[in-house]
Amino acid sequence: MKKQKSPKVVERIYEAMAPYYDFIYGKLLFNEGREVSIELLDLKSGDRILEVGVGTGLTLPLYPLNCKVVGVDLSENMLKEAEKLIKKKKLRNFEVKKMDATKLEFKDSSFDAVLGNLFISATTYPENALREMIRVCKPKGMIVLMNHFLSENPWVARAETAFNPIAEKIGYKSNLEMNNLLASVGLKPKTIKKVNLFNLWTAVSMENNK
Ligand SMILES: C[S@@+](CC[C@H](N)C(=O)[O-])C[C@H]1O[C@@H](n2cnc3c(N)ncnc32)[C@H](O)[C@@H]1O
Repeated sequence: MKKQKSPKVVERIYEAMAPYYDFIYGKLLFNEGREVSIELLDLKSGDRILEVGVGTGLTLPLYPLNCKVVGVDLSENMLKEAEKLIKKKKLRNFEVKKMDATKLEFKDSSFDAVLGNLFISATTYPENALREMIRVCKPKGMIVLMNHFLSENPWVARAETAFNPIAEKIGYKSNLEMNNLLASVGLKPKTIKKVNLFNLWTAVSMENNK
């Protein structure tokens, strides 16, 4: 069995990437998916949202201002960029903290909704992160992921699997299979939308039926 990359390695990759991150993963390529992910959260005024793997905070300006958002990430350098954005855009209802998404320091059912954008294939133990997202989200709350998952087309899937060793060096897995991953933690897709360049990414919402 292939050895999993340690969370420390993931942290180091994003520590180094932080100054260039917005240039590579910025608005042009990924904001369609980020906007769709916010729509799928189905937010109401006053909702408290957790965003895991918040990174440099590129999704933060897209939330409605009448919500309270807490963002967590492993990488301090990514969070420093997020803090700069929060200050620049005067996002008063937003805070970010260094925290491992697989060991969340929040009580059960403490958020109305939980989001992970471009996160679930970047983290070492995606099932553990999803279990934590389920635990801290209220029953019936929405859990949303926007991510690249393994293609259903066998030829594309083969290419994605071949590319994976390179993808892992730059901080993500290119061959994460969505349906098995969600089923492994008891999550059922509610809405699935194809997003971003050539519709190669997926935004998926799930109701938390814990
Ligand atoms: C590709 S970036 C996505 C950032 C942001 N969500 C966006 O839309 O641009 C993935 C982020 O997940 C973070 N990450 C990976 N594993 C994590 C974990 N176990 N706990 C918290 N953050 C993690 C990385 O540090 C990185 O900032």
